[in-house]
Amino acid sequence: MNKNQKLAEWLELRIPYDAKGRNSIVEASCQEYLKKRKSLKIVDLGAGTGANCRYYLSKISQDQEWFLVEQNQELLEIALNRLIMWAQENRYDSQLQNSTLVLKNQVYKITIHRIVGSILDLENLIDLNTFDLAVANAVFDLFSEKQFQTFLECLKKYQLPLLATINYTGTNFLPQTEDDSYFIKYYNQHMQRQQDFGRGMGPDCGSYMWEAMKHINMKVLQGESPWEISSNDSVFLQLMLRFMEESIPEILEEITLQDKLNTWLLKKQQMIAQKKLSCNVTHQDFWGYWE
Ligand SMILES: C[S@@+](CC[C@H](N)C(=O)[O-])C[C@H]1O[C@@H](n2cnc3c(N)ncnc32)[C@H](O)[C@@H]1O
Repeated sequence: MNKNQKLAEWLELRIPYDAKGRNSIVEASCQEYLKKRKSLKIVDLGAGTGANCRYYLSKISQDQEWFLVEQNQELLEIALNRLIMWAQENRYDSQLQNSTLVLKNQVYKITIHRIVGSILDLENLIDLNTFDLAVANAVFDLFSEKQFQTFLECLKKYQLPLLATINYTGTNFLPQTEDDSYFIKYYNQHMQRQQDFGRGMGPDCGSYMWEAMKHINMKVLQGESPWEISSNDSVFLQLMLRFMEESIPEILEEITLQDKLNTWLLKKQQMIAQKKLSCNVTHQDFWGYWE
């Protein structure tokens, strides 16, 4: 399995947690805002394997035209296959017309375009004047403050509303054990490490997104969207630990801390095997629009 296939597998595993976590008040407010439109044209930013688009497809009772914008071409190819499977499962006819996917049932028509490119180049990829909504799931914690601000300025120019869900704010294991806060701090710091574009917002994205959206005069509704991972889901818990195992050593200042980390990870693995560990991952959802 290559890196993208592994990422695709992770994105699929998190779907039920995202679905349960999404803030229903934030979502309902967005639906209310859009309900009078006959059809909707939506851009899904950082679309990955299309999980966010698939989530909304059956929630929307209008004809829909989607543009999936994603920088990783391989993920978008996987998205196509998964959308075709979604159509079969939900009794839609699907047709590929050039590279556009057209889904139809007796009532609705859904058109889905895939665009390989960066969210930061959005204006040059699509005509933003013609869109009703931008959505993004689990994306903006990866952005730096500056990138998010640049992106918001683009939204402002076109008065395009934004529904941004599952923005990471923290991790808590239950029960807590010694050194949890220590290594979770490193895990969060890893998200904010220096990269070629600057530092990702990571767990600080919630407060920054709120301030930045307010600052450009958007009306903003914010709500919590937690994942509650039970001790029965050992596959998911193991994957979370693997992310920590791979990321934390990159930023440990002292080599001796690696032993301490290994001991902590081993203890967590034992607790998972005994079904004695569960985990809460906190996130925030945002609905921002213009009056
Ligand atoms: C955690 S994944 C979420 C994928 C999808 N939204 C979902 O809910 O499953 C974040 C995605 O954002 C994409 N991404 C990050 N920065 C991007 C950018 N500047 N332009 C386009 N895609 C970006 C990544 O390639 C990745 O597929």
